[in-house]
Amino acid sequence: MSTQPRILVTSAAGKTGLPVALQLLTKGVRVRAFVRSRDHRADRLKAAGAEVFVGNQYDMSDLRKAMQGVQRAYQCAPTAPNGLHFNAAFTAAAFEAKIEHVVTLGQWLSSVDHPSLFTREVYISDILIGMRPEMSVTTINPGWFADNYLMGVGLAAHLGILAMPLGDGDTRKNAPPSNEDIARVAVAALLDPDTHSGQTYRPTGPELISPNQIAHDIGEALGRRVRYMDISEKMMLKALKAMPPSNYSEAAASQLALYSEEYRRGTFAVNAPTDAVARLGGQEPESFLTIAKRTVAARPDLIRSTSRTIAAMGGFVRMLLTQPPDLDQLANDRDFVPIAIPKFSQDDAAWRRTHAVSNDLNSREVA
Ligand SMILES: NC(=O)c1ccc[n+]([C@@H]2O[C@H](COP(=O)([O-])OP(=O)(O)OC[C@H]3O[C@@H](n4cnc5c(N)ncnc54)[C@H](OP(=O)(O)O)[C@@H]3O)[C@@H](O)[C@H]2O)c1
Repeated sequence: MSTQPRILVTSAAGKTGLPVALQLLTKGVRVRAFVRSRDHRADRLKAAGAEVFVGNQYDMSDLRKAMQGVQRAYQCAPTAPNGLHFNAAFTAAAFEAKIEHVVTLGQWLSSVDHPSLFTREVYISDILIGMRPEMSVTTINPGWFADNYLMGVGLAAHLGILAMPLGDGDTRKNAPPSNEDIARVAVAALLDPDTHSGQTYRPTGPELISPNQIAHDIGEALGRRVRYMDISEKMMLKALKAMPPSNYSEAAASQLALYSEEYRRGTFAVNAPTDAVARLGGQEPESFLTIAKRTVAARPDLIRSTSRTIAAMGGFVRMLLTQPPDLDQLANDRDFVPIAIPKFSQDDAAWRRTHAVSNDLNSREVA
């Protein structure tokens, strides 16, 4: 292994890619940051010392160029369609470039017959990236990110509601990791391939918390009372369509609906929390309250005013009037590969075995 490697970070302007790149730079590592446009995030990476590569991550030619002179890489498919295409092109380019070590961002849910096409693609991608024995791989498999709850923070700030389809507010739990903590685990694996090669890690937050607790913490960060409201998936899809900014396409939102079903089944609570962040990242994982406070501090648009409350009420009405996407039609139009008998993660015997779920444990009730 190279002792002073250059590390390529893909999706470097994204939720986990940005902190991965910045944390590596603070450790004095040479970083090439792959971004798709020269915007404020690219400027921030450059100012921190990164070599910024602007290109199209789905384009094999650009990946080949980006990997020249690189020894290690962070592989992060965007939350967007064509993840398998990105991962396959990344893998082929990495094999050609003789990359020594890859840290790949997978999913806790990853299973062969999952109803989510994106998740099935992650499953196949994990197999592809491991096929060249000369290249070592570490897999990071987080569950539902803390950041997902904060997509609804505007409504929470101005109307006091956290509206998500997560099921019962007291019992459906998750130990949500921060983007920064996921990055800490990835960075540790990028810096020490000998120790972390062949390993899979699942970063989590410090404890399992309920939607009611999450709403409470967001309220504390905002300085107002926030109430969790269990909404239907249809309503979530309407909200994602009606209330930008959401960086989710309709196709990505359709997968979020399936992940919400996993949430209600308690799959993100299985075997959580873990010690991955403390063990690899060298510090205790951040609490959800800490994460919420950081988000609120960075968002002056969350400060309450009459005009913002009126605008939020307008957005709420717009959401009610919006037609939700027809998910079957969408899957059809986009040629989503269908499978005969889809299985959610906990219904898959292989997933239960590899994720250490005991057979007599009904984890849906444990959540
Ligand atoms: N969210 C969750 O709860 C969760 C849970 C488990 C696993 N995951 C996994 O997390 C991964 C996503 O990671 P993330 O959230 O860190 O990523 P992300 O925030 O979706 O970031 C993707 C980045 O890639 C950029 N990008 C998109 N298309 C591009 C292109 N053609 N060329 C170059 N750059 C492009 C985007 O640019 P712009 O910013 O300009 O759009 C964005 O900055 C997914 O693979 C998902 O399976 C997510």
